[in-house]
Amino acid sequence: MNLMPVTTDHRKISIAPMMDWTDRHCRYFMRSLSPGCMLYTEMITAAAIVRGDAVKLLRYDESEHPIALQLGGNDPAMMTRAARRAEEFAYDEININIGCPSDRVISGQFGACLMRTPAIVAACFRSMRDAVDVPVTIKNRIGIDDHDSYEFLENFVETLSAAGCSKFVVHARIAILGGMSPKDNRSVPPLDYERVFRLKREHPELEIVLNGGVQDIEQIDELLQQLDGVMIGRQAYQHPYFLVEIEHYLRPEWQMPDRHAIVAQMIPYIEEQLAQGERLHRITRHMLGLFAGQPGARAWRRYLSENDHQDGAGVEVVLAALEAMPVAVQAAIARTAR
Ligand SMILES: Cc1cc2nc3c(=O)[nH]c(=O)nc-3n(C[C@H](O)[C@H](O)[C@H](O)COP(=O)(O)O)c2cc1C
Repeated sequence: MNLMPVTTDHRKISIAPMMDWTDRHCRYFMRSLSPGCMLYTEMITAAAIVRGDAVKLLRYDESEHPIALQLGGNDPAMMTRAARRAEEFAYDEININIGCPSDRVISGQFGACLMRTPAIVAACFRSMRDAVDVPVTIKNRIGIDDHDSYEFLENFVETLSAAGCSKFVVHARIAILGGMSPKDNRSVPPLDYERVFRLKREHPELEIVLNGGVQDIEQIDELLQQLDGVMIGRQAYQHPYFLVEIEHYLRPEWQMPDRHAIVAQMIPYIEEQLAQGERLHRITRHMLGLFAGQPGARAWRRYLSENDHQDGAGVEVVLAALEAMPVAVQAAIARTAR
């Protein structure tokens, strides 16, 4: 993949950690859309890395830099061992998940419920920071349950800041623990950007990245006037071409690749992965939204999703999905490819 040098501006934009979504194939695809934004892995528990197949969990393609590993856990010793492994794999950042509200995570006493016990998070942070050179950061909510105030958020952040943490990615809504699904927890509690702005205003020395509900370039532009960065989740996954538009916003001189060129860039990667035994669907499932909002999007999506999981499916399925798009769209693709 041809990559451009990453600028400081690039790191202002990051793609959120998303379980089952931002795996290594998804990140490779996203990198083909945006040469510079910061990519986050799905949350991986520290215990899985320490006790499980760390190589399988942590491997990634060189092109994915800058890349952050997101860790889940609450035990300083375990988190530190996982952080050391992450450092061996040359991750650019290690991020601690203090935002996940799932039942599995609550029963393990990590994720969002740790906002209630900042001292435990600080103990993990300190131990990790002392053990590795790679920056350790936090991703948290603005509150949980009835702890829904600026003071609660500030107390959490100040405790971590006193432990040495200088970067916080703040999902600008509270988490409701117990009784609300993770999906609803990403849309039902209202967004409160003002609370995040105030955090930055009152703690200008901290790097504050806002996450939650970011949909378009105008919004990114406005948010960057007040904050250090913006993290984008669902909009980037469901409308991946948005990443190309963001890159273009950061570097207006950049020649935007069209969607067809993005597919073409993915073909050698797909072939290489299939040769290693990967299944086509594991990669193309992340590409379904590439034509979202464009004529032919439905045909692309339908053809791929109906054919990419069959035994032996190869790149011919991807090419056929392009051909399944209406003739008018193919003509437009051919014109831009010329
Ligand atoms: C499918 C899915 C999985 C997610 N998994 C994680 C995760 O592993 N770690 C995490 O911190 N947040 C996770 N999130 C939350 C996102 O990182 C982000 O905070 C949330 O989607 C709000 O941002 P958005 O409105 O831009 O999507 C997940 C979100 C989605 C949609």
